[in-house]
Amino acid sequence: MNYTVVLPAAGSGKRMKADKNKLLLELFGKPIFLYTLEVFQRDPNCDAIWLAVKEHERELIEDYVTRYNITKVQGYAAGGMERQDSVRACLEAIPPCGVVLVHDAARPFIDREVIERLVKTAQASGAAIAGVPVKDTIKKVENGIISETVDRNQLWMIQTPQAFRYSLILKAAQAAHNDGFMGTDEAMLVERLNYPVAIVESTYENIKMTTPDDLIYGKAILESRLQEEQK
Ligand code: CTP
Ligand code: MG
Repeated sequence: MNYTVVLPAAGSGKRMKADKNKLLLELFGKPIFLYTLEVFQRDPNCDAIWLAVKEHERELIEDYVTRYNITKVQGYAAGGMERQDSVRACLEAIPPCGVVLVHDAARPFIDREVIERLVKTAQASGAAIAGVPVKDTIKKVENGIISETVDRNQLWMIQTPQAFRYSLILKAAQAAHNDGFMGTDEAMLVERLNYPVAIVESTYENIKMTTPDDLIYGKAILESRLQEEQK
């Protein structure tokens, strides 16, 4: 089942506290976003890659794409103020296709098998997103005091990729924009159109490189994968 992937890469990485876009930080000598790009370059079901980038970083990113031979990149869109704006710019730029996958460039450890299940589910039902069951006990806190312990059995931590039929996500992104609605993921934009969104169980390794400690976890994941390959 083929798909086009849209990768928002136009953030600034404030929480990473580096002096540049966190995606350019290196893990074992390779910038984070290239690990992400390589997953899709290697996936035979991925037809095309589109990136949202900041104008002043475009040349640098294009150079890396050439140097690492990421031949599936078909275009770039101008990143916006918020992640949602960056994703919409990509969605408006890509040629119409069957299924679109939206994936944070900052999640380099996504599993190929999860991608496949997402695409299949989105093809069949319209919308499917990656997530993992919550492991910790979750409580609601008001003014420093517990007000409620939430039933964990129904809670999932949501990740990307999020997969959609092209026409559905384009419509949802444009409707949100016209209504001035800001969501924290793409699924929210589809949910508000009362469209059902399916969940596909992902892996706990699919972390988003967000704060400096994620660099430590990221290196550990890469090391353990390397050891697996050498077995
Ligand atoms: N992103 C984007 N355009 C924005 C903001 C974010 O394309 N205006 C991208 C980031 O580059 C990242 C993904 O969206 O790949 C997820 O966002 P996040 O992890 O929040 O990254 P940043 O916004 O860069 O980090 P921070 O929120 O800490 O500043
Ligand atoms: Mg952000």
